[in-house]
Amino acid sequence: MMFPARRMRRSRSRNIQPMLQQTSLSTNDLVVPLFIDESISRKKPIGSMPDQVRYPIGGIGRVADGLWDHGLRAILLFGIPKKKDTGATAAYAENGVIQQAVREIKTVVPDMVVITDVCACEYTSHGHCGIIGTTRSGTDLLNDPSLELMNRIAVSHAEAGADVVAPSCMLDGMVASIRSALDGDGREDVLIMSYSTKFNSVFYGPFREAADSGYSFGDRSSYQINPANKREAFLESELDAKEGADILMVKPAGFYLDVLAEIATLGLPIAAFQVSGEYSMIKAAAQRGWIDEKEAVLESLTCIKRAGADLIISYFARDVAGWLDEVK
Ligand code: PBG
Ligand code: ZN
Repeated sequence: MMFPARRMRRSRSRNIQPMLQQTSLSTNDLVVPLFIDESISRKKPIGSMPDQVRYPIGGIGRVADGLWDHGLRAILLFGIPKKKDTGATAAYAENGVIQQAVREIKTVVPDMVVITDVCACEYTSHGHCGIIGTTRSGTDLLNDPSLELMNRIAVSHAEAGADVVAPSCMLDGMVASIRSALDGDGREDVLIMSYSTKFNSVFYGPFREAADSGYSFGDRSSYQINPANKREAFLESELDAKEGADILMVKPAGFYLDVLAEIATLGLPIAAFQVSGEYSMIKAAAQRGWIDEKEAVLESLTCIKRAGADLIISYFARDVAGWLDEVK
C-alpha cells in the first residue's frame, strides 16, 4: 500500500496541535457591551438576552472594575434615557445617562477603554437613528441634519471622558463630520471606531428590547446595508477609512466573515460585533441542551478572529475571560 508522504493527522496529535494553533483568543481583543438604564436603581434582566442585564448608573464604576479584574480592558456603552423626544436631546445632555456613566467609570477605572455607541435610536421617540423628515421617498431619516446631532452626541461623550466614540447610525459622511467636530473641540486624541459596514440585519432583534430602541414605523433599510451586497459593504468601510476612521467594524459578525476578510485588506484595525441575535441563538440552543455553550462560544469567536477581526465585541466577553483564566 502506498501512503501519502504528507499525513495531515501527524500534526493533529494531542501535544503537537496546541503548538500549531494559528488563532487564539485574548482578553485584549474583547469588548464588553453594557446597557445602562437611567430609570432603574437595580440590575434588570433582559428577557430577549438570557444572562444579560441593564445596569443602573449608580455602581457602574464597580461593574467596570469587576471586568477589569477579569482582564477585560474595553467596554462599549449603550444608554437608555428617561425621556425620549424627536430630537434625541437626552443623547447629548451634559447629565445624560452615558455622560454620567462615563464619568463614573473613568473615576473608578481610569485605564478602562471606554467606547460609546453614538446613535439616536435609544433617544428618539420614533426609534430611528437620527432626525426624521420628509424626503423624495416619503418620511425618512434626514442625512445632513442628523450629522449635526451625531456631532453633538460624540463631542458630549468625549467631554465626559470617552476614549473612543462609535457612530452606528450609517449616515453618509458621519466619520468626517464627527472627526472635525471632535477636532474643533480639542479632542484630537479621541478615536473613532466606525460601525462602517453595518447590515440591515434581523439579528439585531433581541437588542431592541435590551436597549428599548425599536422603531414606531418603517425599518432601517434606507440607511443600513442590504445583507446581499458585498461590493456596497466594502465601499462603505473604504469611505470611512478615507474619512479618518481609526477602527472599522463589521456587524453582525458570524454570517459576514467573507465581508470581514475583504475589509481587513483596507489595512485598518477591524472590529467585529457578534450581535444580540447571534448571542441569543447560542444561549437558546444551549439552554435546551442542544449545543455545548462554552464550546459554541469559543468556536464562534475563534472563527471571527480567524477571518481577520482584531477586536470582537461580544456579550459573551465576560464568560470568555473567565474560561481563558481557567486555562492559565
Ligand atoms: C444602534 C445599534 C444597534 C445595535 C448596535 N447599535 C441596533 C440597530 O441598529 O438596530 C445592534 C447591536 C446588537 O444587536 O447586539 N444603532
Ligand atoms: Zn441607531
